[in-house]
Amino acid sequence: MKKDRNISCVLKPKTAQQLDIMRSTGKLLAEVFEELKSYVKPGLTTAQIDLFAEKELYKRGLVSQAKGYRGYRHASCVSVNEEVVHGVPSETRFITDSDLVKIDICAKRNGLCADMTRCFAVGPSNKRIDRFVGAAYAALDAGVEHMIAGKRVGDISEAVQKTVEGYGYQVVRDFAGHGIGLCMHEDPEILNFGKAGVGPELIEGIALAIEPMITEGDYAVHILPDGWTAVTTDGLLAAHVEDTVIITKHGPEVITKL
Ligand code: MF3
Ligand code: CO
Repeated sequence: MKKDRNISCVLKPKTAQQLDIMRSTGKLLAEVFEELKSYVKPGLTTAQIDLFAEKELYKRGLVSQAKGYRGYRHASCVSVNEEVVHGVPSETRFITDSDLVKIDICAKRNGLCADMTRCFAVGPSNKRIDRFVGAAYAALDAGVEHMIAGKRVGDISEAVQKTVEGYGYQVVRDFAGHGIGLCMHEDPEILNFGKAGVGPELIEGIALAIEPMITEGDYAVHILPDGWTAVTTDGLLAAHVEDTVIITKHGPEVITKL
């Protein structure tokens, strides 16, 4: 989501029943990504990828939360190469070998949401892209590790930033992760940079969508004239990965998985 003002917030835990619904939403959304993994190929347009995602969501009773959101007209966001997030699916954007495609979907089922993003490196493997995408997943893992009751949002933010910068990449400042549940975007905001020990305290029973967005070069981004697509200003690659996580008494539980 677009970074908001960093306002303080009161976190409210979900009920056990709500969390169970979120788990099933998360699992079904992960299935859609499993289908996308075999579908995404050179020669497809990003609009075809979006249409495929929409059908796979529909089959599972999942409703895209992007479609209709502030006038957005597609089920998914498909961002290629220098596009960071909120890439608008297009009938003229063809995927080719060595493209880095990020697919972002937030879906609701039985009133509760899950949000997930994966990177798809198209064509033969490429060292530059593999290392870069590896850093994004490492940042995601590092952030999730801090999703423990009693820790603070800043602990997550710092872990993500340090991991990414440790690889020599940058974190995007203009977008953030977020609480999630009845709505796609709830409190708190989860920046991908910051200081440990600050921000709202995490409590058992909340759910968070953590989404590191990282750049190969400078972290500056701007929005294209379509009003949505965020691109790196220097034109270098961006990666984005996202999972939805419940804070349980046993620690973090990633729900966007099979
Ligand atoms: N994961 C994205 C986010 O939290 C989903 C955006 S849907 C869109 O911002 F409609 F805003 F594109
Ligand atoms: Co999100």
